[in-house]
Formats: sequence, structure tokens, C-alpha cells
Amino acid sequence: MENIKRPDDMARITTAELAAAFIEEQVREIQKQVGNKKVLLALSGGVDSSVVAALLIKAIGKQLVCVHVNHGLLRKGEPEQVVEVFRDQMDANLVYVDAIDRFLNKLEGVAEPEQKRKIIGAEFIRVFEEEARKLEGIEFLAQGTIYPDILESDGVKAHHNVGGLPEDLQFQLVEPLKLLFKDEVRVVGKALGLPDGMVYRQPFPGPGLGVRCLGAITRDRLEAVRESDAILREEFAAAGLEGKVWQYFTVIPDFKSVGVKDGKRSFAWPVILRAVNTRDAMTATVEDVPFALLQKITQRITAEVPGVNRVCFDLTPKPTGTIEWE
Ligand code: XMP
Repeated sequence: MENIKRPDDMARITTAELAAAFIEEQVREIQKQVGNKKVLLALSGGVDSSVVAALLIKAIGKQLVCVHVNHGLLRKGEPEQVVEVFRDQMDANLVYVDAIDRFLNKLEGVAEPEQKRKIIGAEFIRVFEEEARKLEGIEFLAQGTIYPDILESDGVKAHHNVGGLPEDLQFQLVEPLKLLFKDEVRVVGKALGLPDGMVYRQPFPGPGLGVRCLGAITRDRLEAVRESDAILREEFAAAGLEGKVWQYFTVIPDFKSVGVKDGKRSFAWPVILRAVNTRDAMTATVEDVPFALLQKITQRITAEVPGVNRVCFDLTPKPTGTIEWE
């Protein structure tokens, strides 16, 4: 990893004008670096990879090949949004890979959290590698590396880490956001015309819903996590909490409890709600969610999500809890 340092006198990108100047400069740089060659990008749909994609589409159009791997662990509506925004609206060269069965088969019966993460990470690289091999004439790999990635680690992102590609599949890197902080990336994304839902989204871990469907992942519990998460997000948005609370999501443990549903005994899963605020994710406090909102979310989840009969709210700050449950 080269030693990259943000110049002390580099202005913070806080306005649309500053973003426009940054975009113009990067478009020139990218065109100069890439020429008429092709560039590959793993497009997760997260803020950083989406902004890199939009910037490269502006600079080199169809010379950019975006690969979106749907591993089955994304939130409701996310893969569809990637296709709609990048293929339909921006006319990007987008390869959509439905790898859901592959990932879920590999994860079957695996309960240990770090093992689950390893499988998801390794399988992602394998799927990406296969797609890269199908394409010809690719010389560059674009990555959504941002400045905190360089400061905090060896510069390789955990969640779209394609640094594990084999020797014979090495590319030159294109990393146009590598000197930017997250808030600046969002301003640039907005200036590039990406939708607010993509630019201002809350953090989402690379292993996705895989670490929120606790223990060994089953398809029915995974669907219940996805559906309950969608309800939580919808209700937070309706209550004006979107963009105000740092991270909020649902978790489903791998045990059931007794309840009553439609006048009959039920034996079903609980859903755990989590909503936290933090500066740097090292410590976190619990959002003081209005009780009436918690009741409404509980009512909707127990009525709308199959297999769920109970909702709990996690009151634990970090420490002693982590933000995620696994
Ligand atoms: P924890 O649970 O450690 O989470 O308090 C801190 C932040 O990191 C996110 N997180 C991950 N992000 N891959 C990621 O890309 C992971 O394996 C992972 N695990 C946790 C978590 O969502 C929170 O924002």
C-alpha cells in the first residue's frame, strides 16, 4: 500500500460548487490514467462504490464495467435500486450476478460469526474473479477506498475487498475518492445526481443481513430479517428519523418462544430492534426512540412478518454490547 497523505491545505468539499470542481478534476485525471482501456468495479450499492461508479460513468462511460454481486444478504429493494439507478438511469455497463443460492448453500449450517464472515468474503472474491475472467481487455480495477480506510487500515476495504484476487488477475487501481472523508463523498455523490436514499444511507456491513440472522442462516429467518428491517426503515423514515439516527436495524436470534397469534398458540421467532448513535463506531449510545413508534413498529412486524410473534428493543450501549449482534 502506497503512503498516501491528504495535503494539509486541501479544502473540505462542503458545497455543490466545490464538488463540481472536484468532479471536473477527477474526470480529467481518470481519462488521463485510463485512456481507452476498460475498468472493472465491484458495485455493492453502498455510498462509496456508488459514487465511484457515477464518477467513472461520467469520465469513461461504457469503458467501466460494474459487477453487482447479489449474495442474498442485502436489504429489501437494494439490488433492484442498483439496477434501476445504474443500468436504467445512468446507462451503465452493469453485470448483475444472482449468486444467492451459491452463498446460502456455502453458509448452510455455519453458526460461528467469524466463520460466516470468512465464507461471505471468500465467496465474494470467487464470484468476482469468475466474472472478471469472463471479460476481456480489462486493465484497471476501481475501488471505493476513502481516506479513513487509508488512515485506519492497510487501505483495503473489508466490505468490497477484492484485494484477494489471484496473482494472474492483478489490475492497476483507480481510487478517485482516496483523499475524501465520508461527508465529502456524500456531497460529491449528490452533485453527480445519485438519489438521496443512496447517498445518505446508514452504514451497512459487508456481510449484510448474514450477521443479523444469528447462528446458522436459514432462508425463512433471513426473509424475516429482511422484511422486519424494511418495516423498521419505513417507520423511521415516516417519523423523520432517517438521517438522524446513525444506524438502525433488526436482528433475529435462532430460537423461538411461545405466543398467541390469531387465537392460537404460536411458537415463533422474536425480532430484536437496534437503534444507535455514534461518532466513530468505537462506542455507541442507544437512540431514545419514542414509545409510540416502538409500539407501531411492533404491531406491524408481528402482523406482517411470517414466523415472528414478539419484538424486543435492545437497550445496550457499546460497550458492553457491540453495534451488531455477531
Ligand atoms: P460493531 O458491531 O463492531 O460494529 O460495534 C461497528 C460498525 O462496523 C460495522 N460492521 C461491519 N462492517 N464488515 C463491515 O463492513 C463487517 O464484518 C462488520 N461488522 C460490523 C457495523 O455495522 C457498525 O457500523
